[in-house]
Amino acid sequence: MNNLFAKIFRKKHINHKHPAHLKKCLSALDLTLLGIGCIIGTGIFVLTGIAAANQAGPAVILSFIVSGFACAFAALAYAELSSSIGGCGSAYGYSYVAFGEFFAWIIGWILLMEYGMSIAAVANGWSGYFNNALTAMGIGLPESLSKAPSLGGMVNLPAMVIILIIMSLLIIGAKQSAKFNAAMVFIKLLTVTLFISVAIFNVNPSNWHPFMPYGWFSTLPNGKTVGILAGASLVFFAYVGFDAVSTAAEEAINPQRDLPRGIIGSLAFCTMIYIIVSLLLTGVVPYQELNVSSPVAYALQKIGFQGASAVVATGVITGLTTVMLVLYYALTRIIFAMCRDGLLPHTLSEVNKATNTPIRVIVFCGLIISLIAGFIPLGALAEIVNIGTLAAFVIVSLGVIFIRKLHKNNNATFKNKWHPLIPVLGIFSCSALMFFLPLETWRRFLIWVMIGIVFYFVYSIKHSHLNKKPV
Ligand code: ALA
Repeated sequence: MNNLFAKIFRKKHINHKHPAHLKKCLSALDLTLLGIGCIIGTGIFVLTGIAAANQAGPAVILSFIVSGFACAFAALAYAELSSSIGGCGSAYGYSYVAFGEFFAWIIGWILLMEYGMSIAAVANGWSGYFNNALTAMGIGLPESLSKAPSLGGMVNLPAMVIILIIMSLLIIGAKQSAKFNAAMVFIKLLTVTLFISVAIFNVNPSNWHPFMPYGWFSTLPNGKTVGILAGASLVFFAYVGFDAVSTAAEEAINPQRDLPRGIIGSLAFCTMIYIIVSLLLTGVVPYQELNVSSPVAYALQKIGFQGASAVVATGVITGLTTVMLVLYYALTRIIFAMCRDGLLPHTLSEVNKATNTPIRVIVFCGLIISLIAGFIPLGALAEIVNIGTLAAFVIVSLGVIFIRKLHKNNNATFKNKWHPLIPVLGIFSCSALMFFLPLETWRRFLIWVMIGIVFYFVYSIKHSHLNKKPV
């Protein structure tokens, strides 16, 4: 028994000198763009409208601020851990050092779910916009080829295909993908700028009244939760992805210095954009009308800017592409780290000599996610993403407290000044947002965790590379 405990709590040590398996080619700017590429997407372009119409009204801006705060606390924790621990694997790698192997495995397992499901969810959103564009040109796909079986179709073909295209890009290599990402981020920001510059001159302040139609939090007779806080736990999805920056540590030229910059920079920038866009969106059309699949384009159409609306819709399609690209990139890096530690089969993690990328992981994920995206609808996928991400944020915040206790002299280049206030606030705010999610989401989440625990005891504990070292 003692031996079992020793095994599952065995820890990795802080080690800045990781073997250079992957090419180091990403600068601070690349990392920030990676973050922005991943953060601005379905959340702001689709969920803002849904949250405003159903949960928060014009006060959806407060929902964004509330979840922005939770993310800021988590971002500071990520920044500190990425500068003190380094290595790839995001929250997974940090947990290995802070809490030992078992918790690291669990968090890694949760991250696989978070990233895999969010890529499939965004692919579904992308497919909706894409098919709308095809329909506008008179060549729209029939329902049977553009919807999952539970929504009355057979398969969501565009969602499957876009994932396979992104898979090919990642195979070509990180730097090429980072360049592609930078170009796409630029287009996405132009789109947002276009929306802001048209909307700002067309605000009707009466649309902001009543500002808080559903208050802070309440439960309707049908069991639905509404209010600013329920909205916050939904629009939280808009922030998912800034943590992806930390998974690129091994490909960063100077991770200790640049990761904190990339994480905090991209989060701060996106929060600002969200506040402006949500304020304007609810200012140009009544919030009750925003429960549509493309609220930003709809708002422009509603105030008579058809051309701008089409351009914005095209930009959104581009924007969602970058989100999938970065989330996919992050997912493969986490699996890569878990394979290298022996917790997942090692054969997946081999780096191809010609491209310098872990091709097997990339193809393995691409095939599975493309199937998920083709056959499971957006709603079911999106629900589960937030709970996994929030759980990861809670654990990372706990990690900061542990690391400071265990390694008093760790040479982190980034340390938050208000310790332990910041990580405690991170734990509190992220747990609170988890609390506002539906019970069904909790049930699915716990089933996934159970499967992970079984896998750990059947496979990972025996194959862990820490077995080769004295415990
Ligand atoms: N934050 C990303 C989005 O909103 C996942 O699409």
